[in-house]
Parts: sequence; structure tokens; C-alpha cells
Amino acid sequence: MTVTVVGGGRLGRPLARALRAAGAVVHGPMMRGETVPSADVVLLCVTDGEIAGAADMLHGSAALIGSVSGANPLAELDVDFGWHPLQTFVGDEGPDAFRGIGCAIAGKSVDALAVAQQLADLLGAHAFPVADDQRAAYHAAASIASNFTVTLLAAAENVAAGAGLTPAEARALLAPLVRRTIENWAVRGPEAALTGPVSRGDERTVTRQRDAIAGRSPEVLPLFDVLCESTRGLAKKGRATA
Ligand SMILES: NC(=O)c1ccc[n+]([C@@H]2O[C@H](COP(=O)([O-])OP(=O)(O)OC[C@H]3O[C@@H](n4cnc5c(N)ncnc54)[C@H](OP(=O)(O)O)[C@@H]3O)[C@@H](O)[C@H]2O)c1
Repeated sequence: MTVTVVGGGRLGRPLARALRAAGAVVHGPMMRGETVPSADVVLLCVTDGEIAGAADMLHGSAALIGSVSGANPLAELDVDFGWHPLQTFVGDEGPDAFRGIGCAIAGKSVDALAVAQQLADLLGAHAFPVADDQRAAYHAAASIASNFTVTLLAAAENVAAGAGLTPAEARALLAPLVRRTIENWAVRGPEAALTGPVSRGDERTVTRQRDAIAGRSPEVLPLFDVLCESTRGLAKKGRATA
């Protein structure tokens, strides 16, 4: 299979690297303004707002055009298949970065869907179908799991300054806690993974934590309050099912 990767950003670079290492003949990643060589498949790894323009320019240069966008329903894109890796990429990942991850696929034809499946198989990713009417919910789940985790950890880093920790110290000390928490959630589910004062019904400690945050990082309070409430609900659910 010959594949042209268009867009050399955070996803395009590791994707081209991984496809090449897996034995595909890969052109690119092609940067803006470069002539795109013809191939069996073109994978558009451009920003979402650029997909329509890029797809328009590419018709005729490939048998099939795919998009890696997670957000857009396939029917709204002028491409043949969707291929969204359920992972976060910053650009410097190695060739194994796709091994074992999920990959949401969709196709406008049987052939296009088969190619999306083949690409996932080639990289060792687990392909699963996502229909257009499920795409927004699928993408929201991915954003909550990945993007909002980062927002939450940035808040923890901020609050940790009140304990005299620099951001780098906070990240080094909190990272093992975060990794174990995520591992427990993945293996046991949310109710069993939940520990801490809210799950123990220790509201005195929660109030003490809240006061400390109000004093040093008041901008974090709305997030703290809403998450305490949500966590109380989860703890209640855990007790009901225990
Ligand atoms: N990063 C992730 O974790 C991730 C994960 C799953 C899916 N995705 C999907 O991957 C796509 C790209 O995201 P990204 O995070 O890689 O974005 P990004 O880092 O901003 O990279 C986008 C790249 O596309 C280039 N580009 C834009 N228009 C182009 C055109 N017409 N021709 C050639 N190159 C063009 C940009 O070049 P310029 O700098 O010149 O604008 C930039 O290098 C999005 O659809 C996103 O949903 C990303």
C-alpha cells in the first residue's frame, strides 16, 4: 500500500513514521504548499478547518482519501473514510505509538472501510466502528478523558504551590498517584477506584481542603466544588452497589 500523509503536525509526523516502520511506502508528511504525490491512500492530518480545502485539491491524486479528524461526521467531509486514533500525540512519538490503541473507523463504501481497517491492522491498533450519529458523544468522551484530565492536573499543580512545591516538583510527585489511579479505574471501574475523604464521607477534611484552596488558589474553587459534588454521587453509587 502506498500512503501519502498530508500535514506534518502533532499527529501527521508520528503517523508517517509508524506507517513507514510497518512497511508501507509513505510519502510525507507533506507540508502546506508541497505537491502531493499520487498514492493508493491519502491521509489528511490537517487541522479540522483545512480538511475541506485540502480534500478538494487532492481528488484524483489517490484512490481513497481518509481523514483523521475525530470531531466531524463523515457525511460532512468530502473524504472516503474516517480514521481517528484514540490517543493523544504531541509529535515526537516512536513508531509503536499506535500499537494497542483504539481507532475509530467509518467508511462511505465497503472498500473504504476495508482500507481503514487495514491501516489499523498494519499499525497494531484496535479498529472499531463509530456511526455519524454517535460521533459527537464518542469525541466528547475522548475529550473528557484526555483534555480535561490535563486541565485537572494543571489545577492540582496550581494548588500544590500552596504546599511549597514548584510545578516540576508537583508533577514528579503527583504523577505516580495519577498513573495508579488511572490503572485502578481502567481495571476495576470508577466506584472501586475511588478513595479519599469524599468517598469516606469525611466532610471535615473536605472543608479543610476547600479553605486551603480558597486562600491560595481561589480560581480553582468552582472546579473543586463541582467535582466534590460529582464525587459524592459516585461514592453514593459505589455504596449502593457494594
Ligand atoms: N494530536 C492529537 O493528539 C490527535 C489525535 C487524534 C486525531 N487528531 C486529528 O489530527 C488532525 C490534526 O491535528 P494535529 O493535532 O496534528 O494538529 P497540528 O499539530 O496543528 O497539525 C496540523 C498540521 O496540518 C498542517 N496543515 C494545515 N493545512 C494544511 C494543508 N492544506 N496542507 C498541508 N498541511 C496543512 C499544518 O501546517 P501549518 O503549521 O502550516 O498550518 C500543521 O502542520 C485533526 O483533525 C485532529 O482532530 C489529532
